[in-house]
Amino acid sequence: MPCGTTILMPQWVVQRAPRFFAEPDSFGLERWLDERIKSLPKFAYYPFGGSLRVCIGQQFAIRHPWRH
Ligand code: HEM
Repeated sequence: MPCGTTILMPQWVVQRAPRFFAEPDSFGLERWLDERIKSLPKFAYYPFGGSLRVCIGQQFAIRHPWRH
């Protein structure tokens, strides 16, 4: 990708993608308890941003099973 390219990452779409989540349109906290969550790509769920810009409070707000 050329340097300076702007990329939009729509969280609403990615976080409801059937290729990442079974029953993507239903509310289910159990999805975060499932061992399968550990195999998700990092940016299948990114409410705190990521890469160079990220929420510094995310460890206070949530604890992901794939991050310690
Ligand atoms: C559900 C809870 C939270 C969500 C979804 C959330 C989400 C975010 C997002 C999306 C950003 C912007 C990242 C970017 O610049 O692209 C951010 C920034 C930030 N968050 Fe959170 N946050 C949450 C809780 C917290 C908590 C609990 C704290 C502090 C204890 C916190 C402190 C900050 C700070 C200081 C920034 C600015 C970081 C910077 O610009 O360098 N957040 N947050």
